[in-house]
Amino acid sequence: MAEKKYLNKGAFMTEVDKMIVVDEEHLDIVEDPVIKEKIKAQLEVKLPVDPDKVLIRLEYVGVCGSDVHYFHDGRCGTFKVEKDRDIPFMLGHECAGTVVEVGANVKDLKPGDRVCCEPGITCGKCEFCKSGHYNLCKDVIFWATPPVQGCYMKYVPFQADLCFKLPEGMSTKAGAMVEPFATGMYAAEKGEITVGNTVVILGSGCIGLMTMMACKARGASKIIVCDLEDIRLAKAKELGADFVINSGKEDPLAKIQELTDGRGPDVVFETAGSKFTIAQTSHIARRGGLIVLVGMSAEEEITYNFGQVMAKELRIKSLFRYVNMFPKSVATAGSGLAPLEKVATHEYALKDIQQAFEDSVNKKNEVVKAVIKIDD
Ligand SMILES: NC(=O)c1ccc[n+]([C@@H]2O[C@H](COP(=O)([O-])OP(=O)(O)OC[C@H]3O[C@@H](n4cnc5c(N)ncnc54)[C@H](O)[C@@H]3O)[C@@H](O)[C@H]2O)c1
Ligand SMILES: [Zn+2]
Ligand SMILES: [Zn+2]
Repeated sequence: MAEKKYLNKGAFMTEVDKMIVVDEEHLDIVEDPVIKEKIKAQLEVKLPVDPDKVLIRLEYVGVCGSDVHYFHDGRCGTFKVEKDRDIPFMLGHECAGTVVEVGANVKDLKPGDRVCCEPGITCGKCEFCKSGHYNLCKDVIFWATPPVQGCYMKYVPFQADLCFKLPEGMSTKAGAMVEPFATGMYAAEKGEITVGNTVVILGSGCIGLMTMMACKARGASKIIVCDLEDIRLAKAKELGADFVINSGKEDPLAKIQELTDGRGPDVVFETAGSKFTIAQTSHIARRGGLIVLVGMSAEEEITYNFGQVMAKELRIKSLFRYVNMFPKSVATAGSGLAPLEKVATHEYALKDIQQAFEDSVNKKNEVVKAVIKIDD
C-alpha cells in the first residue's frame, strides 16, 4: 500500500467530561470496535480533495463556550450530543492553519496560504440565504453542532469559499480568534457604533472582549466593562476598556450613572448571558439608547422592565452568530486595530486537550480563553 501523505490526528469526546487524542498510526488505543471505525473514517484524508474544497493543516483551534458546554453538560441550548448518533464527537469550530492541497475548481487559494475558516455551510437556496441573512438558514451545517462534527484535528478539508486568507503580519493564532471576533464585529455593527459613542459591555468573557475590541475599532470613545471576576476585568483593561466595574462588589447601575454624568451609555451590549445582566440593560441605557443582546441565557423567559423601554424610547436588537463578517474581521485585526491573540490567555498542545477543557470548566477565574495548538 502506498505511504500516506497526510497522517491525521484529532481529539474525540467519548463521553461527558472525557476526551481522547488519537492519531492514525495508533488506532489500537481505541478498544471499542465501533468507535474505532468511526474515528478511522473521520481522520482519513481523501485525495484528491473535492473540487471546491481545500485541505488545511490546522495550527490553532480555540476552545469556545459552546464546546465547553458539550464537553461538560453533553448539550448546549437545544443541541444535544446523542450517544449512538454522535459519539465519538469531535468539538472545535474556531480554527486557522495553512492550505496544503487545493481542489480542481479553487482559484483564489494556493498551498502555503494561511487561512481562517467560517464554520457554517449554508444552503444558499432558502429565503434567508438569498436575502443575505444566511446566518438564519435553517439548513446550516455548522462545525461541532451535533450531529455535525468539529475540527480538533490536524488536517481538515473545507469549502474554499469559507476560507479567508490571513494577511502577512497577522498570526495564525489570531486567525483562530477571528470566529468569535466576527460575533463581536456583528454586535458592534448592530450597535451602530461610531466615533464618540459611550458603550457599556456586560460580561468580560471572550465575546465581551471581542465586542469591546470591535467597538474600539469603530471609534467608541468611552467603554465601560462589567464582570464578576477581577481577572477578566483586568483583561478588559489591558485590551482597552476605559473603566471596569466588578458588579459583585459595586452597584453597576449607580457606577455607570456616575461614569456617564447621569446620562447613561448610547449602547449597552449584554454578553454575559445571565438573567441578571439582561434585566439590567433597560435600566442602564440612556434615553433613546440602544440595547444589543448577544449572550444566550439558559432560561428563555426572563423578567424584564419594559416600562423603561417605553419611557426612554429604547431600541432592542439581538443577533445570531454573524453574517458577512469574516472579511471585515480579518481586515480589522490584520491592520492592527484589534489584538485578537491577546484574548487567548492559555495555550495547550493537542495531547493536553483534556486539561484545557477541565481548566476551562473549573478555573473560570484564571482561564478567560483557551486555545489548542495542533503540534506535529
Ligand atoms: N448571539 C450569538 O450569536 C452568540 C455567539 C457566541 C456566543 N454567544 C453567547 O455569548 C455569551 C458569552 O460567551 P463567552 O464565551 O464570552 O462566555 P463567558 O462565560 O466566557 O463570559 C461570560 C462572562 O459574563 C460574566 N458574568 C456572569 N454573570 C455576570 C453578572 N451578573 N454581571 C457581570 N458579568 C457577569 C462572567 O463572569 C463571564 O466573564 C454566552 O451566553 C454565549 O452563549 C452568543
Ligand atoms: Zn465559538
Ligand atoms: Zn439557506
